[in-house]
Amino acid sequence: MSILKAISGTRDLLPPQTELWNRIESTARAVFNRYNFGEIRTPIFENTQLFARGVGEETDVVSKEMYTWEDRARAQSEKTTSLTLRPENTAGVVRAYIEHGLGESGMLQKLYYIGPQFRRERPQRGRYRQFYQIGAEVIGPPSSGSESPLRDTEVLEMLASFLDELGITGWKLLINSVGSANDRPRYIVALKEALDDLAPTMCVDCQRRAVTNPLRVLDCKVPEDQPKIESLPRIGDYLDEDSQAHFTAVLVGLDACGVEYEISHRLVRGFDYYSRTTFEFQHGGLGAQNALLGGGRYDGLSEIIGGPKAPGIGFAIGADRLVLTIEAQDGQISPTLADAYIAPLGEGQNPAALVLARELRRGGLRIEVGDGSFRIKKSFETGNKLARNIVLLGEDEVQSGMLTVKNFASGEQVKIQREQAAAALTPPHE
Ligand code: HAM
Repeated sequence: MSILKAISGTRDLLPPQTELWNRIESTARAVFNRYNFGEIRTPIFENTQLFARGVGEETDVVSKEMYTWEDRARAQSEKTTSLTLRPENTAGVVRAYIEHGLGESGMLQKLYYIGPQFRRERPQRGRYRQFYQIGAEVIGPPSSGSESPLRDTEVLEMLASFLDELGITGWKLLINSVGSANDRPRYIVALKEALDDLAPTMCVDCQRRAVTNPLRVLDCKVPEDQPKIESLPRIGDYLDEDSQAHFTAVLVGLDACGVEYEISHRLVRGFDYYSRTTFEFQHGGLGAQNALLGGGRYDGLSEIIGGPKAPGIGFAIGADRLVLTIEAQDGQISPTLADAYIAPLGEGQNPAALVLARELRRGGLRIEVGDGSFRIKKSFETGNKLARNIVLLGEDEVQSGMLTVKNFASGEQVKIQREQAAAALTPPHE
């Protein structure tokens, strides 16, 4: 029979690497808490329309990469519904914001999420079909201050602090403004005009996008098209006074906080919902998939999916890429050793070993229990792989309450009273 394997582009995450995943996630939670964010968990699948309308029909993600299926009607009264595994979480968060009337409090909503997303991309290093994002969204009615450039700067400063706290060095923040809904039509006219001549010489996707959604031409990755794209009009030259002032205020805030950035005029990002600020943090160590995270403003998204006016800004970090970056920087994570390996001397001692393990674990120690059927040599070999110490537990030890403990690193073997075992086995720095 053929062996069943994980689907291409999906992976099993195993220990000890999952320890790194947990460290990243708990650091994110700790940092986001300090900025007063709360956690939101939205469903992994949503109505296909949410992404088609929110993210945009013409985006690569919606037109090529979604996992969509017809959810069969279970009764005659039910209709078949088109459902999609979420390719990103911003549309879901905004849907939840609308559905639960979160704007009605008049307060700004600061929400973060951690979870899997799904895109049918061509798998390669740093690009998977099931990948994990750690993201956050700041959204609220305009009266809550949701449009303020202070929010943009705060989010970017939070990201810089998060990466610093994880010890990631060498990241680069690229930032741009894609203008508001007022600026966009003027820019699109100029872009279309320029593309009239250029598009026929470009890739098929660009030829299509030039007609259906010219802004997406700027996302093209085909090498031969790059010089042509560089020659196109730049959105920065089409910002009105308000958009220009907003962008400047974001940059002034970043300067004040000492967060370094580079303005990148082509950073329009792949989704239709963006307006004004867009940004990406890149890392050279990642190779082709060098975006560690991306985000921006989406001031009109709520209205596009049927909600009230609710400007917002957010980001999503590619957790898979954070893991790759940290591993490249700090090396592969080694398994954590248990504080002690308890070796019962004979199967009759197995229950006593479990009792001792229970005592020590309740005292906060990390304990592995062997098996009384092991010969002493095998116990030592196994213990040496798994733990810093071995505790021998024979009938004598149980009767006398004195335990034999050997430290593998020093080779020192001592007899200690059972009551003192927890203290003796605790690593020195704790
Ligand atoms: P995005 O740029 O599509 O934005 O994704 C954000 C990050 O997710 C990327 O920078 C990358 O690190 C990671 N990522 C994306 N696709 C993959 C993949 N196939 N494999 C591994 N990692 C991947 C968004 O998703 C927006 N929702 C961000 C946002 C939030 N904008 C406003 N609020």
